[in-house]
Amino acid sequence: MTRMIIAGRQVDAHDGRTIDVVSPVDGEVFTTIPRGQQADVDAAVQAARAALEGDWGRMTALERGRLLLRLGESVLAHHEELAQLEARDTGKPMSTARGDITVLARYFEFYGSAADKVHGQTIPFQKDYSVQLIREPLGVTAHIIPWNYPAQMFGRSVAPALAMGNASVVKPAEDACLSVIRVAELALEVGFPAGALNIVTGLGEEAGASLSRHHDINFITFTGSNEVGVLIQQAAAVNAVKCVLELGGKSAHIVFDDANYKLAIPAIVKGIVHNTGQTCTAGSRLLVQRGVYADFMKALADEFSKVRAGTPDMDLDCGPLVNQAQFDRVNRYIAKGLADGLTVVAEGGIADGVPAGGYFVKPTLFSAPTHDSSSLLTEEIFGPVLVAVPFDTEADAIRLANATDYGLLGAVWTENGGRQQRVARGIKCGQVYINGFGAGGGVELPFGGVKKSGHGREKGFIALEEMSTTKTLIQFYGE
Ligand code: NAI
Ligand code: MG
Repeated sequence: MTRMIIAGRQVDAHDGRTIDVVSPVDGEVFTTIPRGQQADVDAAVQAARAALEGDWGRMTALERGRLLLRLGESVLAHHEELAQLEARDTGKPMSTARGDITVLARYFEFYGSAADKVHGQTIPFQKDYSVQLIREPLGVTAHIIPWNYPAQMFGRSVAPALAMGNASVVKPAEDACLSVIRVAELALEVGFPAGALNIVTGLGEEAGASLSRHHDINFITFTGSNEVGVLIQQAAAVNAVKCVLELGGKSAHIVFDDANYKLAIPAIVKGIVHNTGQTCTAGSRLLVQRGVYADFMKALADEFSKVRAGTPDMDLDCGPLVNQAQFDRVNRYIAKGLADGLTVVAEGGIADGVPAGGYFVKPTLFSAPTHDSSSLLTEEIFGPVLVAVPFDTEADAIRLANATDYGLLGAVWTENGGRQQRVARGIKCGQVYINGFGAGGGVELPFGGVKKSGHGREKGFIALEEMSTTKTLIQFYGE
């Protein structure tokens, strides 16, 4: 049984209720988490507000930065323990979990060392005036975190918020939150003042909804489904607070006839099977120039059919899906692809010896005759399912890349430098890769979507601006 963290203490829900935590590997309950509700959220927001008015609010940027750096060190010192917890909770392969914990530490390192390097400005104004633009924290920041990368998303969201002097209340996902709780315990151990970082576990429609509409929060970050993203923005509107939304994608690889297969093929396979496709930035569409389509798909199929799903300890290419709902959803999409007449070009396998009751699916590579032949080309599946379609010209490739409601990532595979720039600039999205894919965390790289992938930017220095505000001081110094 795990407890949440409010006001520097490990606590149960106010009424003692809990939620079962199910292992994706075998479908069995292995622990419980508190089922936090409005009263628990109230206590956490109050604790955060008190921290801002107390020790935490009085700290200098340097002191906050040192605490973040210490937390980064502590994460590294507990690396294996955290990776085991993450793998148990999400079912991901051990090496993926280990990589995720390294990225978590990187967030605290990056933002810890950045905390005292955010400077203000002086602005030339009228005679005998001095104008300063200073940065201030927003106040109490709310963070609603998904289950696909609990540790990474926690670091991405919370590290810049704390670096800027906000006090945070985090609602991790009910499906996977154990690493987040453990890191908050480590934060207390390394000396974060009570209330600077609070974790309320619970259901989205209970604790999540209570937090997002709480009258005393000043900012919300949310990563998750489109549907809930809209609810979050509505809740933010009622309190007139800013929100950053990251709502997934349907990112396209564009492979031209001069692409370097050796680079492209492993990256395209990894881009859809890593984390069992449960990645907002998954490369889930593949556009290939018609002249090389058959040849490229054959080479890709050879590689794709080697993919294996297994348990964390088997440490293969991917694990199970996170829960029954995601398992049903991905299987529904695969059945829909077949019903829409798509061709299965290759399938990966499920390793022998995985427990019955686990949420394992066969990674599937489909080919579609045209981009409008199936909803699998426009909807986020969130599983190891890739759909390929041919295109003719550069203009067609850009048009198809933009033919979904999403706009998170894109990737261009060509040796032609002019084409690399034209296509990368033509895709409506927040990040484009050229002859590569996947940044393994990409802590330094500004990230976020356009269109229905959301708005606002995280990662890199830009997150420090998102998670703070400015004040303009205008002083007359004449006589
Ligand atoms: P979800 O959007 O319901 O869950 C994400 C987070 O939001 C969780 O912490 C959840 O507790 C919270 N939440 C749920 N309802 C809420 C509410 N009414 N108010 C406040 N918070 C709430 O996502 P779900 O249902 O687990 O997955 C459905 C689909 O969403 C996936 O198949 C995938 O397409 C997408 N998704 C995208 C993610 C991304 O990285 N962009 C991450 C997770 C899901
Ligand atoms: Mg949901």
